Amino acid sequence: MRKPSENIVVIYDSAMACKAVGAALAGYFRFREIPLAEYVTGGLPEATLSIICANMGTSETAEQVKKATKICSGETLFVLPTHNSDAITQLRQHTKADYLLLPLDDEEFREATKVALNRPVEKAWSILDPTKQKALKSAVVSFEKCFDQVANGKPIPLDDITSSCQDIREAAALGGLDDWIDALDNHHDYSFRHSMFVCGSLSYFAHAMGIRGAELDRLTLGGLLHDIGKCRVPLEILDKPGKLDAREWDVIKLHPVHSKEILTRENDLGTDIVAMAAYHHEKLDGTGYPDGLSGAQINDHIRLTAIADVYSALIDKRAYKGSMSSEAALDIMTTLKDELDMDLVREFRSFTLDKG
Ligand SMILES: [Fe+2]
Ligand SMILES: [Fe+2]
Repeated sequence: MRKPSENIVVIYDSAMACKAVGAALAGYFRFREIPLAEYVTGGLPEATLSIICANMGTSETAEQVKKATKICSGETLFVLPTHNSDAITQLRQHTKADYLLLPLDDEEFREATKVALNRPVEKAWSILDPTKQKALKSAVVSFEKCFDQVANGKPIPLDDITSSCQDIREAAALGGLDDWIDALDNHHDYSFRHSMFVCGSLSYFAHAMGIRGAELDRLTLGGLLHDIGKCRVPLEILDKPGKLDAREWDVIKLHPVHSKEILTRENDLGTDIVAMAAYHHEKLDGTGYPDGLSGAQINDHIRLTAIADVYSALIDKRAYKGSMSSEAALDIMTTLKDELDMDLVREFRSFTLDKG
């Protein structure tokens, strides 16, 4: 069973600081709040990241913070009052953890939270083959740049993305899709994790099928960019911890339309990559979206993207669902006879279970 992808505890001695932290995190991260005194006296929840908001104005608080820092098992991040330079001095005596000052710049704080959450995941990559490490590290940077640029109306940084895809293809040539999935499993950024699951599934599978050259390039690039339109979906819907309501689903279901529009603007991208992004939610029986395409209107690359997409969604752990084993996911996929190409599903199943 995979671990939760995100687990933040806000430990506080000041209700005001806690409120500021809560306001910055709400809608973006799931978190629990615990008073400092309660935290240091027991009942410790395990956390990926502990955010400690403390004034440290008294020696008693400073002692409690020191104790809390020692017992936090994961990453720590501090939020300190600006006016208390003693607090920074005291903090530096027992930890090198990052700190931010009140009043918080919400965006900077969320970025620091993201970096702290992903630090152990990215540290764990050091045991992987250097080719895989290079691919993962390069993709983190280029994917984030791509999402940010496109969300701000700028073009896709195609040189960076293409270079990352080349690294991913080299990683795929080594085989071992399971390692790839495991390495990304706990990464905080759902959009990155999902796009890398889909891109990896496509690239590793295509390579194992003997696909090479320009076709393999297109499948890898198409996989990484297949959900680029999601950058236009509000984060509170995209990363919503609970289930989506009907209105929110309608917003999500527009992402292939956004993807088509974004990718069509890029003259260097072929129609194949645009089609993978625009139509991977279409189903063979015509019940998919956005255009209700069916049968032969859905080409092999779209069919492969749909398979990689469904597989990636099933094995991923989200706030509203637990993760699923590869085998259980593939079992479900073999029942989707009206939606997915069963010949390709069978091949994908045998690749994933036997040779992955
Ligand atoms: Fe999608
Ligand atoms: Fe997707």
